[in-house]
Amino acid sequence: MINAREIIDIYISFFEKRGHKRIGNSPLIPENDPTTLFTSSGMQPLVPYLLGEPHPLGKRLVNVQNCFRAVDIEEVGDGRHETFFRMLGNWSLGDYFKQEEIPWFWELLTKEFRLPREKLYITVFKGYADIGPDDSSALIWEEVLKKEGIDSKKRIFFADVDKNWWSKSGEPKNMPIGEIGGPDTEIYYRFDDNLVNHEKECKDNPVDCVCGKFMEIGNAVFMQYRKRDEKTFEELPQKNVDYGGGIERLLAAVENNPDVFQTTLFSSIIQSIELTTGKDYSDHKKEMQIICDHLVASVFIAAENIKPSKNEQGYILRRLLRRSFDNFESLGGKDLLPVIEKIVEQYKDTDPVLEEKFEEIKLTILEEQQTYKKTVDEAIKVLSKKADDSTAVVKEISAGDAFKIYSSHGLSPTQIRSLGYVFDQQEFAKKMEEHQKLSREGSKRLFKGGLADESEKTITGHTATHLLHQALKDVLGEKVNQAGSNITNERIRFDFTYPEKLTDQQISDVEELVNDKIKDNLKVTCEIMPYERAKKIGATALFQKKYEKDIKVYFIGNYSTEICGGPHVDFTGRLKSFKIIKQENIGRNLRRIYAKVSD
Ligand code: ALA
Repeated sequence: MINAREIIDIYISFFEKRGHKRIGNSPLIPENDPTTLFTSSGMQPLVPYLLGEPHPLGKRLVNVQNCFRAVDIEEVGDGRHETFFRMLGNWSLGDYFKQEEIPWFWELLTKEFRLPREKLYITVFKGYADIGPDDSSALIWEEVLKKEGIDSKKRIFFADVDKNWWSKSGEPKNMPIGEIGGPDTEIYYRFDDNLVNHEKECKDNPVDCVCGKFMEIGNAVFMQYRKRDEKTFEELPQKNVDYGGGIERLLAAVENNPDVFQTTLFSSIIQSIELTTGKDYSDHKKEMQIICDHLVASVFIAAENIKPSKNEQGYILRRLLRRSFDNFESLGGKDLLPVIEKIVEQYKDTDPVLEEKFEEIKLTILEEQQTYKKTVDEAIKVLSKKADDSTAVVKEISAGDAFKIYSSHGLSPTQIRSLGYVFDQQEFAKKMEEHQKLSREGSKRLFKGGLADESEKTITGHTATHLLHQALKDVLGEKVNQAGSNITNERIRFDFTYPEKLTDQQISDVEELVNDKIKDNLKVTCEIMPYERAKKIGATALFQKKYEKDIKVYFIGNYSTEICGGPHVDFTGRLKSFKIIKQENIGRNLRRIYAKVSD
């Protein structure tokens, strides 16, 4: 039987044989992408190239990308949703299109992964507004199936825009202006009826079936549009293919097991949870899936040096950990360490960083467990004050107070009840719903966009960071090194190494230098070259970052030479003017500057 590691190897070599170059796994916390907290698909770091920037490795790319989708937190527990997963991806950047991708997709699944042909079902795009149905994909599929002697009427289904359109924000109405997307074609694997909750009235096709018998195992997006305004789309300068498929689901199909958590990838982790809790998976599937998924995700997030906190990625990490602690405790689990060890063991051959940072990861998780325990103890004290416990046997609190305890101290309603406190549960559910609605809207805002924010303003901001970086080096010396940046269309945030606060004079010198380079209207050019050569010509590289063999170097006149993926403006004059708004100390030897380019 093929395991998860072999799935990766087979997939990569299949596409390498077809002229694709393998690109690295981008960090789970995206670089230069302020609108997104986590990398959630393989295409995310490739947006500039899908828009037409030349990629140093050419027009055919393949990789396996670690992804995290916070929007799926509540879905975990149904046997097939995970927040952290690994996505296999192949891309054509304006090179091949449907005619190649579709037959390869089929060949890969049936010949390489040996999935039974009778279990594979296909969906294609039905059309939306002035974009017609994807008849050309359907025709190509028909030819593929005909060669196999399969009746395509029973296998190819047209689906609406909510299913067969892909963009980072989902269907067209949710896409911000400027975002890219396109119709897709998907393959579903059909599990046997009685393995899942198949209802008699459930239709036997992947579009209408609601019982979970069909599982999507791969998705080829024909990325060819960009949202122009609220109603219309424009064609991209090139037609791309963006294929993505989760390894975990593919493995479930290969093993013909509808529960991804029972595949060989997760079963040893689940067993370690069974062992330490003394409970059976079959009786506690949902809880164990949550523990397993959330801890896997937490291990990967902690490996990126994120600590649980109230903000951004740290908040998500805290939420994942606390949910897994709650479930772990509800099963009577005490010692999480064996579970964490098992996770690292399962993933270390593809992600050796987990082993290298094991101590740090372990501490991050176990310290949060302690912090959480303290918070819960405090919550219990607050509870006992609120309850009228003078004479009553049953202690009653208001739903509002119960909800406050839940949202500020993290005590779940079940935990509150198990301490004997009663409250109006319907009222509590109402409050919970309002809260979830707000948080869903909040997370939509956080997870929308990505480099879809290819606005002129953001791009000018990006070019400004290169000028700023060089100007800081000129004024402060070689101690300066970029440590991170974050660019929105409102402002630039730039972190760099430097031991002291900058004086007013130094700030105005830096500003003047950048403004001089803007006035000089320097030309911005780029060249693809081997990393070794970039180093030789003194291109600025980022500390700690691992680069590919061939990389892109951006030149701003003779002033700045920096390794960077782009995009940038063509002339510095487009920045008009540059101003530093404030500086901050963000750690030992680390400073942060906020700056603006003018409108
Ligand atoms: N970008 C597509 C996805 O994430 C392939 O599903």
